[in-house]
Amino acid sequence: MFKVNPADKISGEIRVPGDKSISHRSLILSSIAEGESKIEGLLEAEDCLSTMGIMRDLGVEITKEQKGKYTVQGKGLNGLEEAGNVLDCGNSGTSMRLLAGLLASQDFYSVLTGDHSLRKRPMQRIIGPLSEMGAKIWSRRDGLAPLSIKGQQLEGMQYELPVASAQLKSSILLAALKTEAETVIIEPAVSRDHTERMLKGAGIDLEILEDRIILKQAEKRSLKPFEIKVPGDISSAAFFIAAGLLAAEGELLIKNVGINQTRSGFLEVVEAMNGKIELLNKRDQGGEPTADILVKPSNLEGTEVSGEVIPRLIDEIPIISVLAVFAEGKTVIKDAEELRVKETDRIKAVVNEFRRLGIEIGENEDGMEIKGPQQVEGGIEVESYHDHRIAMSLAVMALNSKEGIAINGSEIIATSFPNFKELLAEVIG
Ligand code: S3P
Repeated sequence: MFKVNPADKISGEIRVPGDKSISHRSLILSSIAEGESKIEGLLEAEDCLSTMGIMRDLGVEITKEQKGKYTVQGKGLNGLEEAGNVLDCGNSGTSMRLLAGLLASQDFYSVLTGDHSLRKRPMQRIIGPLSEMGAKIWSRRDGLAPLSIKGQQLEGMQYELPVASAQLKSSILLAALKTEAETVIIEPAVSRDHTERMLKGAGIDLEILEDRIILKQAEKRSLKPFEIKVPGDISSAAFFIAAGLLAAEGELLIKNVGINQTRSGFLEVVEAMNGKIELLNKRDQGGEPTADILVKPSNLEGTEVSGEVIPRLIDEIPIISVLAVFAEGKTVIKDAEELRVKETDRIKAVVNEFRRLGIEIGENEDGMEIKGPQQVEGGIEVESYHDHRIAMSLAVMALNSKEGIAINGSEIIATSFPNFKELLAEVIG
């Protein structure tokens, strides 16, 4: 049980942990690079530790030098070894989907499994295209994990993604690395592009056009080892940005946050809501745009969140709904049906727990409608639904309630943000 009390003032200077998406990719790509890579600022949270454990099970030597600092002895695209047991992705959809792509082209047998939430999430979306490339993947009924993969020589292909999913495009890209022919992936909307950036950085010939990614034909590909400093995760920073905006007083500086355009839709929404944020010290860090974010208390206004921005803020929608409760006017969130297949059905979770708190909220198949500002009494217990982002969103809600809120199942926060509670205590002071 995690009891969060109301707080008027949010202030200080903090750093949030490393970006989760970039951390996963750093571990996977360094493992298949030719030689030694160095990673700094790696997110040491359960999801990324699942990926790290699996890469080690596949024979990769990964050494921890200090907190967040690792050396990886890459084995090349043909050097991974069959694991002696099933590979456990825990709660991490990114691990399962990216690794399924990688393992589909490896010359051995693998089984990927995960926790009860991950075993309910749709894997047919990767099994379909990977099978088109020649992969042999078996699943439970309806494409549910565990997945059993017999690695094969795959073929390149042209594929139009049915959903704007970075996990799906990354899975296909990883599978395609060992093919000879060209692979073309057509995206319905832009989603996070960390895989493309990192593959290019490692010397892979990728062409990025407005609506498609082309992995150029090559007789044989190899990845150069790399050194990377992982920027802070904007998806984690979002909870603190929201806390700072909703506070009555104080000023919060969040240092070293990744602001890649394909991830920063949340900042655009905050600006549309009249939120006072400033991006300071903008710079490039390891191929990713990075900045310090200054947040001040703001009188927020409702807005519409829909269309192409959705994939660029998909993980931030629960916290945007919290902002909407305290904003003047109506906020409408549309085109976000993907929320139904995240770590939990995030539309259902937000609607249920907001209603339990006495908040009026409308539910649609693809989103939510909230008219603010609303008073939140609190003084009750709410549920995390085994979803880290639901738990952290409710914690920010609690700061702005009258009586505080107790969150059940908050240990799930450790999947992405192990020191969330400590940092929250720090900014409340
Ligand atoms: C991620 C992609 C997104 C996001 C997830 C991380 C990634 O999922 O929700 O938290 O690292 O590629 P989808 O690809 O399913 O949209």
